[in-house]
Amino acid sequence: MAIDGDVRFRDAAPDEWESVSALHVASWRSAYRGMLLDAYLDGAIAEERRALWRARLAGGTRPDQIVVVGEDGSGIVALACILAGQDRRWGSLIDNLHVRPDRKRGGIGRLALAEAARRLPPAYAGTPLHLTVLEANRAAQSAYENWGGALVERLEADLPDSQRLPVRRYAWATPAALTARLERRT
Ligand SMILES: CC(C)(COP(=O)(O)OP(=O)(O)OC[C@H]1O[C@@H](n2cnc3c(N)ncnc32)[C@H](O)[C@@H]1OP(=O)(O)O)[C@@H](O)C(=O)NCCC(=O)NCCS
Repeated sequence: MAIDGDVRFRDAAPDEWESVSALHVASWRSAYRGMLLDAYLDGAIAEERRALWRARLAGGTRPDQIVVVGEDGSGIVALACILAGQDRRWGSLIDNLHVRPDRKRGGIGRLALAEAARRLPPAYAGTPLHLTVLEANRAAQSAYENWGGALVERLEADLPDSQRLPVRRYAWATPAALTARLERRT
């Protein structure tokens, strides 16, 4: 467990799927409004995220699926999930990174991602990490550029609301390269 300021970071527990999915839904509704379809954000997303996190957390912590939550006195305020070694070329996938909307821009996302990256098993130490982000999500892109991510590809992706939208792929050479940038305070 790691504590920074008032936020404590730890592995998510299997019985936390409801609070993890609630944070995920709140973050998408806040950040992706105008990017994803309203009908999806106001509808199917809730049940879909609940099913995803119930299934993902059911097996508890696994070396190939890292799920870190940050919590303060009010509950879960951050979520970072890395799926190890997902892609032959781009390596481990940073699949989810979310900070509760009212706690954004306070350094919590940076800390949550660092916590998750540090948990990658040694077998992945020499392999890259990557993520994809909606082309329209400039705020998150700014964070990834700040954190040393290289824009390696522009492509299109099928989104859960059934749209096909442009996305960017950002990559880091190794977990150590990512954590070094995340730990840099300047
Ligand atoms: C992206 C996200 C995880 C970053 O976490 P955070 O705790 O807000 O970010 P941090 O405080 O650790 O880092 C802040 C950096 O993010 C970038 N950033 C965040 N919000 C921004 C905004 N609205 N405009 C511009 N840059 C922004 C900046 O580079 C900023 O650095 P600065 O504050 O020194 O200028 C968080 O804002 C979030 O949950 N966003 C909504 C969901 C999302 O888009 N997730 C990523 C999906 S790919």
